[in-house]
Amino acid sequence: MRMPGRIPVESLGTAHFPYHWDADALVARRQLLQFAVYTSGALFSVTALLAVLGLTRRPPSSPSRAIVSAKALAPGHAYYFNYPGPEDQAMLLHLPTGEFVAYSQKCTHLSCAVYYQPERARLYCPCHDGVFSPATGGPIAGPPDRPLPRINLQVRDGTIYATGVEA
Ligand code: FES
Repeated sequence: MRMPGRIPVESLGTAHFPYHWDADALVARRQLLQFAVYTSGALFSVTALLAVLGLTRRPPSSPSRAIVSAKALAPGHAYYFNYPGPEDQAMLLHLPTGEFVAYSQKCTHLSCAVYYQPERARLYCPCHDGVFSPATGGPIAGPPDRPLPRINLQVRDGTIYATGVEA
C-alpha cells in the first residue's frame, strides 16, 4: 500500500544515490591496514622506548650512613637503628664470634619486628614465633620462609657504616 507523499524504498536506485560500494570497501580495507600498521608501529616504538629506559635506569641506591662506633657495641649485643629510610627498622648485631652483621628488623612473614635474643642465640619474631639465624638471617623455625634482608656494612675509622641493603 502506497502512502501519499512517500517514495517507496525499492524504487530508490543508484540513480538517486550514485555510491560506489566496491571502491568504499577497498578504501575501508586500505584504511584498516594503514591503521593496523601505524598502531603496531606506535606500540613497538613505545615498547622499545620503555625497554631502553628500563635498561638505563639504575635501581635506587641506599645511602652510606654511620650507625655506631664499633667499640660501643660489645659482643652478644644488638644496636637498633633505622635504615635505609627513617621508617625502616634495622638491627646491628655484634655476634659472639666477633663478627658484625645487620638485618632489616621486618619479619619476612607478616612484617612484625624481629629482635635479637643473644641468650638463646637467635633472632625472634614474637608475632608467630618466627626464628631466624643471627649469623645468616635465614629462617630456622616458625612460619617465615625467607631470610631477613641483609644490610651491608663497612667499618671506617672505628665506625660501622650501613652501605646498602641486599635484595
Ligand atoms: S610476622 Fe613474624 S612470624 Fe609472623
